[in-house]
Amino acid sequence: MLSPAPSQCPSITSREQFRSDVLAGLRAPQKVLPSKYFYDQRGSQLFDQICELPEYYLTRTEVGIMEEHAGEMGELIGPRSMLIELGSGSSMKTGWLLESTPLPLCYVPVDISGEHLLEAADRIAEQFTDIEVLPVCADFSAKFELPETETDIDRRVVYFPGSTIGNFRPEPARQLLAQIAELVGPGGGLLIGFDLAKDRQTLEAAYDDADNVTAAFNKNLLRRINQELDGDFSLDQFRHQAVYNESHSRVEMHLVSRTDQEVRIGKAQVPFSAGESIRTELSHKYRPDSFADLVQSAGFAPGQIWTDPKQLFAVGYYPTAS
Ligand code: AVJ
Repeated sequence: MLSPAPSQCPSITSREQFRSDVLAGLRAPQKVLPSKYFYDQRGSQLFDQICELPEYYLTRTEVGIMEEHAGEMGELIGPRSMLIELGSGSSMKTGWLLESTPLPLCYVPVDISGEHLLEAADRIAEQFTDIEVLPVCADFSAKFELPETETDIDRRVVYFPGSTIGNFRPEPARQLLAQIAELVGPGGGLLIGFDLAKDRQTLEAAYDDADNVTAAFNKNLLRRINQELDGDFSLDQFRHQAVYNESHSRVEMHLVSRTDQEVRIGKAQVPFSAGESIRTELSHKYRPDSFADLVQSAGFAPGQIWTDPKQLFAVGYYPTAS
């Protein structure tokens, strides 16, 4: 059952917002670009390719954990729930969970990319005819309204897969999780995927694959700036770099300038010296106990986690603290 979704998804961030974020980032002492801008159409395609790479263990490991443990997770979620998926994208990991959660159930996929969202919502609604599917086009890092349901709902559970939480530094991560705790309210829950700390070689390979798909994904940001903000980045003049910053327990992606150069973006000029980098992404890696501390600081109870035999990745379920 698919309720009439807004026929069109409002464009969430305007071009001017994109421009001011880019210019502010490139004027900082350590140049940065926000990773949420990776995901235009080309970027989303490249990300889907990344998920299939042999080096990128995250997606297939998380899918395996879901496949193996969806039964237990579905029981914890329980009937008469609203399951809210943040950054649902193509809803790749959701099938097992929807299959395993007792009815009645309402599924609310939330994504910033309208096309991806409505396509996936249609597919889910066709496959699960007894589930009420209510897509919401929104930037989940901002506050958004939950839809009215036909189904009687006793509990709200947020599903936040993919280790997207890892893109946030500890304090913003805590704030986002606290916002989620508020959204689901008392009696609600959070089912969340997070990546585990491991050896440097595995981590760096996952973010710098042999086929250079991740490099293309990273450089797509520059291509997007050229296209949408009238920039003149030469993509060849930057090198993709992925490094594990062990003291912060995070993988960082950078684009490193190969030479001294000036780049124009619209009417603005941005100078680069040889070897200077733009940091484009942080991807935090956790130990199970450090992650439990983080969610507890945001208002959730200890809960439980599931992991794979090699302990590469984890999925945790945390009820809101009473
Ligand atoms: C979608 C944020 C989970 O950090 O692993 C993949 C994005 N960046 N390869 C991650 C990403 C480079 C990914 N997340």
